[in-house]
Amino acid sequence: MSFNIAIDGPAGAGKSTAAKLAAGRLKMIYVDTGAMYRTIALYMLEKQVDIEDESALQKALSEIRIEIAYRDQTQLMILNGEDVSGKIRTPEVSGRASLTAAKPAVRAFLLDLQRDLAAREDVIMDGRDIGTEILPGAQLKIFLTASVAVRAKRRFDELQEKGIPCDLEEISREIYERDQRDMNRASAPLRQAEDAVLLDTSGMNLEEVVEQIVNLAAKAGRT
Ligand code: DC
Repeated sequence: MSFNIAIDGPAGAGKSTAAKLAAGRLKMIYVDTGAMYRTIALYMLEKQVDIEDESALQKALSEIRIEIAYRDQTQLMILNGEDVSGKIRTPEVSGRASLTAAKPAVRAFLLDLQRDLAAREDVIMDGRDIGTEILPGAQLKIFLTASVAVRAKRRFDELQEKGIPCDLEEISREIYERDQRDMNRASAPLRQAEDAVLLDTSGMNLEEVVEQIVNLAAKAGRT
């Protein structure tokens, strides 16, 4: 049986960076499910699909083939044969991904893909509903969060470092709005599973977060 770790939490809590590093140390495969929602959102954007139109959405989903590849332990998203790993990281796609992820048809489309991966491999899977919906039987569940202010500042620093012009207040507002949408949607809202360990990273640096995940994994039986 595979060993699975579910990490859920809001946008910008540092889940993906920490989970990726922890996966390297634990010799597990890191799966970023947000990237899958982003990939679907990108397709809908590029094809100008009206996602409020149920039949147009279903038709578009039937045209999508999503594959995951790994290069240097980095997850790549392949959409109908094209590597879209860079394209899915724009603010426009971020906003659209949150709207797209609220659609039950989209969540159903990705459910099997995510469960199959976790059944085959030892994965650290990060997302919003991994511990609650996708992998309720995961050996370890972590709810990783940080205050809006801390998350906004981290994202701001990240963008500044890349030379992308940005505004801290605007980023705070976007993060807050995305949290609200992700937590209040009817379909698989973001919430902490009852048996998840809460990890508030507001006062921690990246190494400390990774260390905590690795220690929790060891306690849960991953050596
Ligand atoms: O983690 P991220 O920012 O890449 O996620 C993009 C969007 O997808 C975000 O608005 C939340 C949504 N998402 C989700 O609903 N369920 C998941 N398992 C992962 C992401």
